[in-house]
Amino acid sequence: MLNPFDIIIFGGGGDLALRKLLPAMYRAYQEGNLPQGTRILPTVRGADKRDEYIDTAHKAMKEYLAKGEYNAKDWKAFAEFLVPVVVNVTEADSHWDELKTILDEHEADKSRVFYLSLPPAVYGTCCEILSAKELITDTSRVVVEKPIGYCGKSAEEINAKIAQFFSEEQIFRIDHYLGKETVQNLMALRFSNSLFENLWDAKSIDNIQISISETVGLESRAGFYDKAGALRDMVQNHLLQLLCLVAMESPHKLNANSIRTEKLKVLEALRPLVAEQVDENIVRGQYVPGDLDGKLVPGYLEELGEGSSATETFVAIKAHIDNWRWAGVPFYLRTGKRMHKRCAEIVVEYKPVSHNVYEQDVGPIQPNRLVIRLQPEESIQLTLMSKRLDNLEMQLEPVTLNIELSETYSKGFHSDAYKRLMLDAAANNPALFIHRDEVRQAWKWIDPIIERWQEKGIPSLYRAGSWGPDDADELLATNNHRWFNTG
Ligand code: BG6
Repeated sequence: MLNPFDIIIFGGGGDLALRKLLPAMYRAYQEGNLPQGTRILPTVRGADKRDEYIDTAHKAMKEYLAKGEYNAKDWKAFAEFLVPVVVNVTEADSHWDELKTILDEHEADKSRVFYLSLPPAVYGTCCEILSAKELITDTSRVVVEKPIGYCGKSAEEINAKIAQFFSEEQIFRIDHYLGKETVQNLMALRFSNSLFENLWDAKSIDNIQISISETVGLESRAGFYDKAGALRDMVQNHLLQLLCLVAMESPHKLNANSIRTEKLKVLEALRPLVAEQVDENIVRGQYVPGDLDGKLVPGYLEELGEGSSATETFVAIKAHIDNWRWAGVPFYLRTGKRMHKRCAEIVVEYKPVSHNVYEQDVGPIQPNRLVIRLQPEESIQLTLMSKRLDNLEMQLEPVTLNIELSETYSKGFHSDAYKRLMLDAAANNPALFIHRDEVRQAWKWIDPIIERWQEKGIPSLYRAGSWGPDDADELLATNNHRWFNTG
């Protein structure tokens, strides 16, 4: 069992803290994974906010926990862990001394996790004050959110600034996709089953699709999103991380160094897309009003309240990994807001059989397909060709082996990426966090795309509730491929 720890949530009154971080800690408590003696210290900007914080957190918990998770008894016990504190993260005023007094009440070797639930622009100042106020101990860690920076250069600056005060071992860069149980299962599937591993390369696989489609729009994040867009918000981190897990070689051991080394090699082998290659291999889109789940939803510009914006809410990419394992296999990456369905999945399309003995009598046969669905519910589906058993004719059709993992394992456990990652940070386990070199390499691949988009072109439009712009279908059609659209 984990030792008690102190987790200081800077930006404790913010959306992320109330919507994700506190519910994650509550779940950890309910499952018996929050050690007694742990303190959760959300920071707020004034004494009035501190006094009302427990009420604010209580409301948030009722709103954001899933049905059946909230109950008054557990909430009361959980609230005992909460110690709201006043801190102004950009000013080294006297409140910081109060924070220090509270933290110093406990032994010096108690782990301190500083969770910066803040805009990246203030990470540096916050770390600087933490250091000046002598709050950083040997057992301290800092957790930072993605995306780190807006481009490679700004990411380097942020990382360099944090590195002045924390060693790389103390820096935990979050990509919450890596904390999803289903995403970890990707590695388990690949590296604990010889069946997949032996059929996991260019000899057997025709193409791989990695899609994260969302039905939500801007939510309440217009300011952030319109500057970031889908490429920075989803591709630079979540999609590239999923790509790494799908394409990497087996790590030598299951520790942070081995896993990160293998992921980094994938990022290094990603074929760069520059200048006109960007136009040829990437489609960006923006949603216009459309019908989603039977309701007319506004377009991006209406949600934003601006007359114009070239920000992309959809991206589709044809990528290649230039190494022996993957030579010639297209990797199609796709993400978008206000799409037809919420779904994250990996679709592996196998090559057709080398000689179709059924060609004359039966006709073409469909290649095997493996679909690993990460959310909303986790399942693994393998499509095989089979003879129809209900007549004498030789008729073939695809049948699907379907494993509903979410039904098998859901009982009594709420899979929550933030819970897993916050507890990992407290336990000093960095395996599911991103190394600085990965951030650098991912931006190196993304930067030329941003540059090209700044010079040329505008997003293609797609209707809310659709699967994205037609151009995205054409991107695959040139290789005789099609998106696998779930449902
Ligand atoms: C976040 C993005 O990192 O991931 C959001 O900033 C996005 O724009 C979210 O909606 C998706 O996460 P999930 O876990 O709901 O798929």
